Amino acid sequence: MTAARIRVAQGDITRETVDAIVNAANRALKAGGGVDGAIHRAAGPALQRELDRIGGCPTGEARLTAGHDLPARHIIHCVGPVWQGGGQDEDRLLESCYRAAFTLARTHAIRSLAFPAISTGIYGFPKDRAARIAVMAVTEELAVGGAVELVRFVCFDAETAAIYRALCGD
Ligand code: AR6
Repeated sequence: MTAARIRVAQGDITRETVDAIVNAANRALKAGGGVDGAIHRAAGPALQRELDRIGGCPTGEARLTAGHDLPARHIIHCVGPVWQGGGQDEDRLLESCYRAAFTLARTHAIRSLAFPAISTGIYGFPKDRAARIAVMAVTEELAVGGAVELVRFVCFDAETAAIYRALCGD
């Protein structure tokens, strides 16, 4: 059952002890606000130095770094789409972030992942619509199989946590 491997939590993703936490980054891979800012503060300055060597990441893709000072071994930096009303391929690009994170997880033997609600803060993606895409993509990826045994959706606010709990039954 894939449902047994999905958990919903409310809190700060930087405290997660999973193998990899996922970041909601920008294409330049430069420290920003929101969850990205929190991850940079907790991981320390070596994270930006590693990201500068990578150089950038297109929307809908993901890049892997070390976790540096975080409890998590790795960070997967996903670049979600900016919401522009839904006619600019936003749904597909958001789904692509979740799938790209799984692709990296498979190549790096990552068994547990924690996702924030990518694109739903500064980038303005509607929370409910984004959560449906996230849960659908993660459920399908878990069904494919591979190393990932646990996915935690770590929601910062109560509204987002309630949306995910309703979708995941957790
Ligand atoms: N733990 C978990 N979730 C968090 C945390 C945290 N510590 N802090 C915020 N969130 P956002 P985006 C939630 O804005 O919309 C940055 O400047 C937040 O409540 O972080 O993809 C980047 O550099 C929301 O539910 O990411 C980009 O430029 C979710 O994380 C841009 O923002 C995502 O909100 C990306 O915007």
